[in-house]
Order: sequence, then structure tokens, then C-alpha cells
Amino acid sequence: MAKPTFRANAIQVQVPATSANIGPGFDSFGLALGLNDRYVAQIMDEPGLDIDVTGEGSDNVRRDEKNLVVRAMYEGFHFMGGKPRGLALRALNVIPHGRGLGSSAAAIVGGLVLARALVLSGDDRMNDEALLTIASRIEGHPDNVAAALCGGATIAWQEMRHGQMISRCVGISVDPRIKALAFVPSNSVATTKARKLLPEAVPHADAVANSTHTALLVHALTNRPDLLFVATEDFIHQKYRQEAMPKSFALVTMLRAAGVAAFISGAGPTVLVLHTGDPSEVAELQRAAGDAFSLQALDISSTGAGVVSA
Ligand code: HSE
Repeated sequence: MAKPTFRANAIQVQVPATSANIGPGFDSFGLALGLNDRYVAQIMDEPGLDIDVTGEGSDNVRRDEKNLVVRAMYEGFHFMGGKPRGLALRALNVIPHGRGLGSSAAAIVGGLVLARALVLSGDDRMNDEALLTIASRIEGHPDNVAAALCGGATIAWQEMRHGQMISRCVGISVDPRIKALAFVPSNSVATTKARKLLPEAVPHADAVANSTHTALLVHALTNRPDLLFVATEDFIHQKYRQEAMPKSFALVTMLRAAGVAAFISGAGPTVLVLHTGDPSEVAELQRAAGDAFSLQALDISSTGAGVVSA
């Protein structure tokens, strides 16, 4: 492939927060939420990296080539034929880190979308399928990155093509009545730790129940929100992760006992609720959750990562 030509102007992208799994859809279902990180990048003539990060998690974010947005950008440039000499990046983070709201997926997808926009004819060099495949490889699973890229609700999967594992996804149209509430605790849980708690195998009966509920979840999200409570019941991951997030697990149990469609968001510890309720019901849920969680009412974001100014 011929070396890429880089654009000289700064590019800004925004990328939504995401909630993975949505109950039973482990490692496959994702939902984009109306909370967006923004990243601005510009190619520099001088070699080197100039990174500035503000907002959520900024104290703990790397300012070198290990920065996740930068790592993803370099992977994207490599795929498109070559790296620029120098790079400046500004990140304005609003997605909480380590809470199961897709901050790493946003960084990865944002970096790849930035890299693509900074290369002339970048869309031809790296299409969405290639971008999703690279993003899934960096993230380790495709669910958050698919929703971050495409917006709305997504089903992502991986398949072999010509000896290479590729990632793909399809969108599910979400009933516009459905809204999300995120109960965000102050503590974080590392996804790697939460994944280590999962068993090698699950009972056959649990697998059957889980696949039934996952299939039902498509229907519930599309046009039967009355089925969301039953459809968001999971059988294969949440209970195994209880010890890593006991307060979140207790909140899910309490909310579900009251008939609320609550589940652990991604690898936790945020608890996500899908509902079609009015503001008074939301206030009641906040009271029930107590002080240990901060409540954010979020729309489902129908758009995924994209350039907002060039
Ligand atoms: N499906 C992944 C998990 C999401 O639950 O481990 C992590 O963000």
C-alpha cells in the first residue's frame, strides 16, 4: 500500500459511552449512551507526542505512546500504510473510568476514527469492518467498541475469514420510549479482574435460559419494552462477579425484586436500568439506591463515533 498523505488541519471526534452485555448478551450486545468523550488531534511536522488530557480519570491517563487513544491511532496509521512524524492530542473525558461504561472502548474507537480522518481517503484504506476488527483486538472483545462505533444497540460477533479473525456487527433499532439510568458507584473494578472471575463452563440449563433471554432481548429493545425486565435477566456472568462488586449486585437484586430492568453495565460496577418511566419514578429509584451511587439519566445515543469538526 502507498504511504498515506496526512491532513494538516486538526480533527475533532466525539465518541459515546457504552454499556455492554445488557444482561444476557455477554460479549455481544452493546448500547451507546448519550455521554460523549471528545478528542482533538493534529499531525505535527516535528517528531514527538504532545498529549493533554482533562476531565474524568485525567490524573491516571498516560501522556506517552501508551495512551490508549494514541495506541489506537498508531494501530490505525499502521493499517493504513504508515505513521506520521509527530502528533498532538487533546482529550476531554466525561465517561467515568473503570465503571463499565466503555471508557476504554471510546478511547480505542475515537483513536481509530481520528486516525482515519487524518489520512486522505482514510475511509478507503480502513473501512468500518477493518476498524471494528482492530478495535476489538485492542479491547479484547467486540461489544463495547461496536456500539461506540455504530451507535444505538448493536450485536457484535467474530468470525474467521481467510484464516483471519474479523469482527462484525449489526444494529438493532431501539424503541424510542426506552431510556437509561446509570447508577455509578465511586469505586472502580478492572475488567481484567472481572473476567478472571468467570468459570470455564456454565451449566447447560443456564446456557439454554441465557440464549432464550438474549433472543428475547432483541424483541424487547426493538418494540416490546414491557419485556425488558424478563429479557435482561442474565445467567452466565453477573452472579460469578458478585464478590468484586457486592454493593452493585445488591442494588441489581433490589431493583429486580421491584420489577425494574436492572443489570450490571458491562464488567461493572455501574448498574444500568432500562425504562420507559416518568421523572417521578426516576426520583423514586434514586432514593432507593441511596448515597453510594450517583445517578445519571442518559438517552440512548443513536449515533456512534464521528468527526464533529475538521
Ligand atoms: N463483555 C465484557 C465483559 C464487557 O462483561 O467482560 C467489558 O466491558
